[in-house]
Amino acid sequence: MKFVKELKRTNYCGSLGLPQAGQKVVVMGWVDVRRDHGSLVFIDLRDREGIVQVVLDPNKAETSSAKNLRGEFVLAVEGIVRARPDGMKNAKIKTGEIEIEATRCEILNESAVPPFQVDDQNVNESLRLKYRYLDLRSPRLTNHLMTRHKVAQLVRRFLSENGFIEVETPILYKSTPEGARDYLVPSRVNPGHFYALPQSPQTLKQLLMISGYDRYFQLARCFRDEDLRADRQPEFSQIDMEMSFIDQEDIMQMNEKLLRTIWKEVKGIDVGEIPRMTYQEAMDRYGIDKPDTRFGMEIKDLKSVVTGSGFKVFDDVLSRGGIVRGIAVPKGGAYSRGQFDKLTDMAKRAGAKGLVWIKSEADGSLSSPVSKFFSPEKLAEMFKAVGAESGDCALIVADDFDTACASLSTLRLHLGRELGLIDTSKYKFLWVVDFPLLEYSPDEKRWVARHHPFTSPKDEFAQDLINNNEAAYGKMLAKAYDLVCNGYEMGGGSIRIYRNEIQQAMFRLLGMSEQETQHKFGFFLEALKYGTPPHGGIAWGMDRLVMLLCETDAIREVIAFPKTAKATDLMADCPSEVNRDQLAEVGVRLSSLAEKHLEDLKKS
Ligand code: AMO
Ligand code: AMP
Repeated sequence: MKFVKELKRTNYCGSLGLPQAGQKVVVMGWVDVRRDHGSLVFIDLRDREGIVQVVLDPNKAETSSAKNLRGEFVLAVEGIVRARPDGMKNAKIKTGEIEIEATRCEILNESAVPPFQVDDQNVNESLRLKYRYLDLRSPRLTNHLMTRHKVAQLVRRFLSENGFIEVETPILYKSTPEGARDYLVPSRVNPGHFYALPQSPQTLKQLLMISGYDRYFQLARCFRDEDLRADRQPEFSQIDMEMSFIDQEDIMQMNEKLLRTIWKEVKGIDVGEIPRMTYQEAMDRYGIDKPDTRFGMEIKDLKSVVTGSGFKVFDDVLSRGGIVRGIAVPKGGAYSRGQFDKLTDMAKRAGAKGLVWIKSEADGSLSSPVSKFFSPEKLAEMFKAVGAESGDCALIVADDFDTACASLSTLRLHLGRELGLIDTSKYKFLWVVDFPLLEYSPDEKRWVARHHPFTSPKDEFAQDLINNNEAAYGKMLAKAYDLVCNGYEMGGGSIRIYRNEIQQAMFRLLGMSEQETQHKFGFFLEALKYGTPPHGGIAWGMDRLVMLLCETDAIREVIAFPKTAKATDLMADCPSEVNRDQLAEVGVRLSSLAEKHLEDLKKS
């Protein structure tokens, strides 16, 4: 500690440049690289702002520690900033025009040999996650977390300036349904009772509207026990907001303004007009409700072309109310049989029963595994109907609406990437509106809320909802909207049900008994009776937003301490076993299945 008292830091390593030339400075940081030239030692010293080159003479007493330096040692260096001679400048780093000629160098702490070189991207991710604190030293992750900080600050500023109040809501709470499983926490003082960690602050923010706070926001932590993907974490953050006495348009306008502010201040980009598309149109054109609109390859309907063609697969699907649709793949005429087999597998993994392809051969003719079922004219008509031209191929799927859409959108996205059709320097935003209110879950054999059960139907469907008119469920549209960017759902929200009887009808429709409704949402239904203002809101996925701004496609890259795809933390080794006394204290006993799992783990 002696040295920290004697040597006070004057500058960050990464903040030095020609303006400081000639000045005496003190910097503190970690040894990134050390190059020993015998009579002189060069080190790159790193702190969170960047790297600076330090030149030390190991033969002088004050800088003799240069002899003993190794990677990740922590140093205090005093020295004179000087311009590097021409030819020695390094344009690759911010401080490349200068270096520090050290007059004193103290080792503040040594470091064990690190398991990998900081910022070596070729190191396997598990190792980097295990030593996350070392990976976090890399300029890459430092930059991501700085961007995240900047976004948090400007969101707070923007929303405060627009009349929103930041309110914290509990983490130990009751189930808030957002379509995932809950993380449960046993209560020691109330044996047999559990808290659920919030999947979102949905009911709480609505209660704040009932309380009259008018405009609320929170950078809220949410917890969802669901299958993880590259853009999903079990705990993540939302920029969550709610407003009273507004309509859908007001919320969308406010959020467009926020979006423009973020992109301008973080990326220097002026976001133009943000187009809007109905859910139906998004599904028809792209097969997905969060389309990547940076490239074309839109889906085309083939019903009018193939109706009555006599090909059994298509006829059967159409007679059952399904669809026959396809996409054109530029230059796909050159694909081999093997490539088509791979595409067929991909379509099948997305649910399709098969894939019809038609390809244009070098001689201009068309070939297809189903050519024997169609006249050459019909085949050409189908080829043309998906928008394919000479040299291309057509990929066609026949199935029920959802399955055909899912498989075609998977193919479209895969091929768009593979063929380099996506301009990755672009941001393409989109509002998707007019979502269905409900969807039928064949597994659960009941209707489920597409967004969440607090979402209001569009006015024309309110009566059907109150009357629990099941025939209308499939057609009901919601006052719900999603903000989409480059194929990611960046945010989503809705206008809420604010009348008690409609909310009750909604719970009924979702198959909840009176008793279950009371147990889960009694408090909420009660609150709705006491003067609930019309209200609505939205939540952005904060991590996804930062991920897009940092131009990475892994959510783990923008979270300080993320979890793996199996929802574990490799550094702290969690979740982990707890001792049986602790379990007994909270009134929990392990099932035989869990006990067996633990035993198996010990054996392996
Ligand atoms: P929703 O469930 O659509 O809405 O969530 C809002 C946004 O949160 C992000 N998100 C996630 N990000 C990372 N990992 C996850 N597991 C994850 N799940 C969701 C997405 C998504 O758009 N209460 C409502 C909002 C409202 O109606 O106001 C809600 O939570 O970017
Ligand atoms: P089959 O009659 O099952 O041998 O199928 C003939 C061709 O149609 C094969 O190339 C299948 O991949 C394709 N096929 C089968 N079912 C579908 C479907 N639902 N949609 C698109 N193509 C299909």
